[in-house]
Amino acid sequence: LQWRGGSQAEFPRCGCYNALVKPKATHLGTDFGAQWHDRAMAAAYRHRPPYPPEIFEHMKTLALPGPVLEIGAGTGDAPIELARWIDQVDAVEPSAEMLRVAAGRADRHVRWIHATFEEAELYPPYGLAVAAESLHWTQWDVSPPRIARALAPGAVLVILERMTVPPRWADELAGALSRYSTNRDYKPCNLVEELCARTLFHVSGAIRTDPGQCLQPVADYVESFHSRNGFSRDRMTREDAAAFDAALRKMVQRHLREGLVPVATYVAMHWGRPTP
Ligand SMILES: C[S@@+](CC[C@H](N)C(=O)[O-])C[C@H]1O[C@@H](n2cnc3c(N)ncnc32)[C@H](O)[C@@H]1O
Repeated sequence: LQWRGGSQAEFPRCGCYNALVKPKATHLGTDFGAQWHDRAMAAAYRHRPPYPPEIFEHMKTLALPGPVLEIGAGTGDAPIELARWIDQVDAVEPSAEMLRVAAGRADRHVRWIHATFEEAELYPPYGLAVAAESLHWTQWDVSPPRIARALAPGAVLVILERMTVPPRWADELAGALSRYSTNRDYKPCNLVEELCARTLFHVSGAIRTDPGQCLQPVADYVESFHSRNGFSRDRMTREDAAAFDAALRKMVQRHLREGLVPVATYVAMHWGRPTP
C-alpha cells in the first residue's frame, strides 16, 4: 500500500489511506473510550483542575474570524470559557452523560452537537478548532483530515493537555494507579508526538503555562481520579474502588497543608495545521 500519486482527496475514498495510518496504542481503543459514557466519570469530572485563563487569552490571538469548533468538549470546561468572547462555539461530544453535566452550565453561544467527531454534522468554515484532551479518542485516520477540511484557510487546530507536576507522593501514586486501573493496556502516550510522527499534524507553535498551585480537599482530590480513564466507579469493583481511595488518602496524609492536598498543574498548548 504505497502512495502512487493522484489526488490526495481520492485516497480516503479508495480506503488505502486508512490502512496507511499506523494504529494507535491499544489503551486508546474504542473499548476504553467507551468509559467516557459512564455516569460516574461525568460526575467526577468537575474535580479536575480548571484550564488557566491565559490559555484562552492566547487562543484569542490565534483565532481567525468565524465560529470555533471544539472536538470532544466533555462537560464544557473549554467551550464555556471560549463562549465568553466567541459568538458561536460548536461543541462536539459523544457522551450523553458528559452532555448532561454540561447542560447545567449552558451558554447560549455554545451549540452542543451530540455525536462522535467522526460522524458529527459540522458548520464550517471555523476560525479555530480546539481539542482539549480528546483527540486521543478519535479515529486518527479520520479526525485530522476532517478538522483540516473544516478550518478556514490559515486557521489552526489547538491541542490542550492538562498536566500535573509530579507530587511528593508520585512513586506511591504510580504504584496505586498501575495496580487499580481497569485499563490494563495503559501506556504513557504523547499525543502531539504521535500525531506528528504519523504526519497527521504539523506544529507551528507551543506554550506551557507556569504551574499553578491549588489546595484541594482530600475527598475532591480522590474523586478527581475517578474522572480518569481506567478509574470509572462504574467499572471498578466496589472493593477495588474503596482500596484505591484509601491508598490515595493515606499517601497524601503527611503532605497536607491546612488539611488540604497541594496540587500543581499546568497546561501544554500546541497549535498548528492538521494534515488535509
Ligand atoms: C478527557 S475528556 C476531555 C473533555 C474536555 N475536552 C476537557 O478538556 O475537559 C475526553 C473527551 O473526549 C470525548 N470523546 C471520546 N471519543 C470521541 C470522539 N470519537 N469524538 C469526539 N469526542 C470524543 C469523550 O466523550 C470525553 O468527553
